[in-house]
Amino acid sequence: MTLTLSVVGCGYLGATHAACMSSLGFTVIGVDTDPNKVEMLQNGELPFYEPGLDTLLAQEMKTGRLSFTTDFSAVKDADVHFVCVGTPQSKDGLAADLTYVRSAVEAIAPYLKDGSLVVGKSTVPVGTAQSLREQLAKNAPQADLAWNPEFLREGFAVEDTLTPNRLVVGVANDRAEVILKEVYESIIALGTPWIRADLPTAELVKVAANSFLATKISFINAMAEVCEAAGGDVTVLAQAIGYDPRIGNKFLQAGIGFGGGCLPKDIRAFMARAEELGAKQALEFLREIDAINLRARQRVIDVVRSELSEDLTQYKIAVLGATFKPDSDDVRDSPALDIAAQLQAAGATVVVHDPKGIEPARKRFPNLEYAQVITDAVKGADLLLHLTEWKEYRAIDPSAISALVKNKIIIDGRNMLDRELWRKSGWKFHALGRTD
Ligand code: UGA
Repeated sequence: MTLTLSVVGCGYLGATHAACMSSLGFTVIGVDTDPNKVEMLQNGELPFYEPGLDTLLAQEMKTGRLSFTTDFSAVKDADVHFVCVGTPQSKDGLAADLTYVRSAVEAIAPYLKDGSLVVGKSTVPVGTAQSLREQLAKNAPQADLAWNPEFLREGFAVEDTLTPNRLVVGVANDRAEVILKEVYESIIALGTPWIRADLPTAELVKVAANSFLATKISFINAMAEVCEAAGGDVTVLAQAIGYDPRIGNKFLQAGIGFGGGCLPKDIRAFMARAEELGAKQALEFLREIDAINLRARQRVIDVVRSELSEDLTQYKIAVLGATFKPDSDDVRDSPALDIAAQLQAAGATVVVHDPKGIEPARKRFPNLEYAQVITDAVKGADLLLHLTEWKEYRAIDPSAISALVKNKIIIDGRNMLDRELWRKSGWKFHALGRTD
């Protein structure tokens, strides 16, 4: 008999997981405490932008296998329960806030049937799974708990869920592994590596992976700083070191650094947890990774000031990009939006354009100005900032917008625009980590 699954928490991770598991043929019940989100999902509408997921969701809703509710008792028929709630940075420190994970497990505990398996997918500090397993042993001894970290990237969520580069399961016994193998049978059949780990290792794999990615980005941004000081070009440097397969050419794109709901808060939570465990020194380097990352934002602001003036009050700056990366409407800890807000706080008039992120950005920064079309954003601008690498911005013809702006100055914060093209049209072109 096919397993029935529940997915608790229907944000990016949960909604994607629910729709993808339904597409594999499982009956899936998605539960979330937010009635608006549930209503939208139940109508086959996605509450956020994620390429391909909207179509998949609409298609799966039609099959009748997938449903969403705010009623936790609906999980009672499920055999496997995926916990996909958020673990944001806590308000008073670096650690992760585990309130949602703990309350999700508590909320489903009364409805867990005999032999069911709770599977954590949220990114948590190491040790959380064990403590939840102990809590469950008291409240719902008929159920077991495993951890199955998720490595999906926004913008590639469906692809990363259905064809992941590995599956990692943290289990305390063989039975839990057997159940998870049944869930992922068709994905395993594709040849996907399967890694069985204990609970703490599975939790650590996730934060180690994100820490490594953050380190790669900050490494190349540190090289960008040195290139600027020494008169070098970080894009050539990145290309050259990337040919060494031990280094690899991915995640070496220098620019304004990493943001989003994962990398920044995960490295901070990892440091906080290491300190609790008495291993603070081992992760001290992540403090530097964080500092380099935040410095990249400041470096853009420094170039703006050196191009315009220390006093920005008379200037209009057009910001191209609000989201933390392209193909997403996520503005959580977005470097682009942070730079826009800092420039506005410094007195500049800032107009922000983004293909998908204007509404989420407006919610966070209602006082910034927003433009729905690029030409409106750049009209009368003293300077352009390219801060999120949407393909729309690479398609801009610099000569076509030359007449609209006041000064033909652009700073490419992502090292993605065609410098020669812009210069040919008479623009002064700056890029982070490139001196000529
Ligand atoms: C990240 C990880 O890549 C996923 O594997 C992980 O599952 C996810 O976090 C998570 O923990 O849920 P995501 O936040 O979607 O995924 O974004 P990334 O593609 O990792 O990009 C993160 C940030 O780094 C973006 O702001 C991006 O612009 C920046 N970045 C990326 C660079 O500045 N340079 C690069 O070379 C690559």
